[in-house]
Amino acid sequence: MYSKNLQYYSLIDVHESFPPELISEVYESIDTGKNIFYDPKHTWYKQVLANQSIVEFTHKIFDFPHVSTVQVIKPGLPIHIDFGRTEAFNFIIDAGGDKVETCFYHPDDFYFNENNKLRPNNSKYREIERVCIPSMTWHKLDVSIPHNVIGIETTRISITLVKK
Ligand SMILES: [Fe+2]
Repeated sequence: MYSKNLQYYSLIDVHESFPPELISEVYESIDTGKNIFYDPKHTWYKQVLANQSIVEFTHKIFDFPHVSTVQVIKPGLPIHIDFGRTEAFNFIIDAGGDKVETCFYHPDDFYFNENNKLRPNNSKYREIERVCIPSMTWHKLDVSIPHNVIGIETTRISITLVKK
């Protein structure tokens, strides 16, 4: 299940290759960019504003209004629904391991608890899609249904665009 369009994952054909010099700008953004994730206490997830050269590049290749950010994911990301967006436009710089997979789950099998955390109704929640997303490829994810990333061994780093 590699490089294939699925229900919740699709490749985006961008006719402009990614400038290799922007890779160091991604790491620079992680070091210096403002963390805009709503809960900065989370140790497994950080979302920082991308620096100007990345902002300029993503606006060159995508014509929809968006905020360009870099996300840093560590092992332990729970099953969640993205807050503030229904789709994510991503480009993975470092997958974070050899067999890292993005999984989607059946929305009927989850509920929001009193702390607004997504929880399974019981232990038998259904996985509906799983994909090993190739690095250095633009793709779109439907992040409006429960999903997570499994198999991260180091740190997963990607550019992620938030539509305005
Ligand atoms: Fe997500």
